[in-house]
Amino acid sequence: MPAAAVDPQMGVVRTVKELRARVDAWRAAGLSVGLVPTMGALHQGHLSLVERSNSLADRTVASIFVNPAQFAPHEDFGSYPRREETDLELLRRAGCSLVFIPAAVEMYPDGFQTSIAVSQVSQGLCGASRPHFFGGVATVVCKLLNQARPDIAVFGEKDYQQLLVIRRMVKDLDMPIEIVGAPIVRETDGLAMSSRNAYLSQEERIVAGRLNKVIAEMADRLQRGGGVAEAIAFGRAALADAGFSAVDYLDVRGADLLDDPGSGALSKNARVFAAVLLGKTRLIDNWPVEINAR
Ligand code: PAF
Repeated sequence: MPAAAVDPQMGVVRTVKELRARVDAWRAAGLSVGLVPTMGALHQGHLSLVERSNSLADRTVASIFVNPAQFAPHEDFGSYPRREETDLELLRRAGCSLVFIPAAVEMYPDGFQTSIAVSQVSQGLCGASRPHFFGGVATVVCKLLNQARPDIAVFGEKDYQQLLVIRRMVKDLDMPIEIVGAPIVRETDGLAMSSRNAYLSQEERIVAGRLNKVIAEMADRLQRGGGVAEAIAFGRAALADAGFSAVDYLDVRGADLLDDPGSGALSKNARVFAAVLLGKTRLIDNWPVEINAR
């Protein structure tokens, strides 16, 4: 697929009908379409997804929808940052062609009662601490893919488990869409970019920059043949020393299936996964362990 030409007239649509009309017109003109689903409060990580989509498809559609179905009642749905005007300007500058901003009633009209469950890969990690989360994500992403009918859809590797859940769903449901994973974009101290980083106080922000260093060190130890149990013990102690309030999980899983590699040395590619709390803010990150490159 050719690289996209920047569209000077970025459109904004709020209904599925308008979205389909724009996408159908592009298809009729022989243009390919990429989708970048977001919840807004955009940062460079999101914009890198738009850039990736632009490099793979003729037109990029971004969606902005803070999806209530993926938040538990005690979570931050109400306070999740919403800043439509700024987001639209960033998307315009990134060369996005169309932004879909549905209201909740457009996505979940009265009587809505379907949900998608991707069983195995949703288990453990974020699936254990946020049991409602992947059902909400899979359902809304399934809807967005059906609504926009793109050729490709791009998701960030920061939410690595989410990426695998979506890949599995698309494969299982025979959706003719290529799911593209894009690398994590990091701040200068290595903190993975996230809309939730805005919740951090100045002191917490300094501590937050240690998370990536701890999991990178764990990955390095594993890559050099160290055992999983030792690497996790090291990581837990290092996170406590760094000043994190709590560790939700710190784990090592197979890179493709998120399978448990056991407690000894790794025999295939894996990833270190972490979710930590800093005050009230929950941060996630992950780091590859490339055994096959050893
Ligand atoms: O990663 C996100 O921002 C969300 O989980 C997604 C994929 C847009 C679904 O609401």
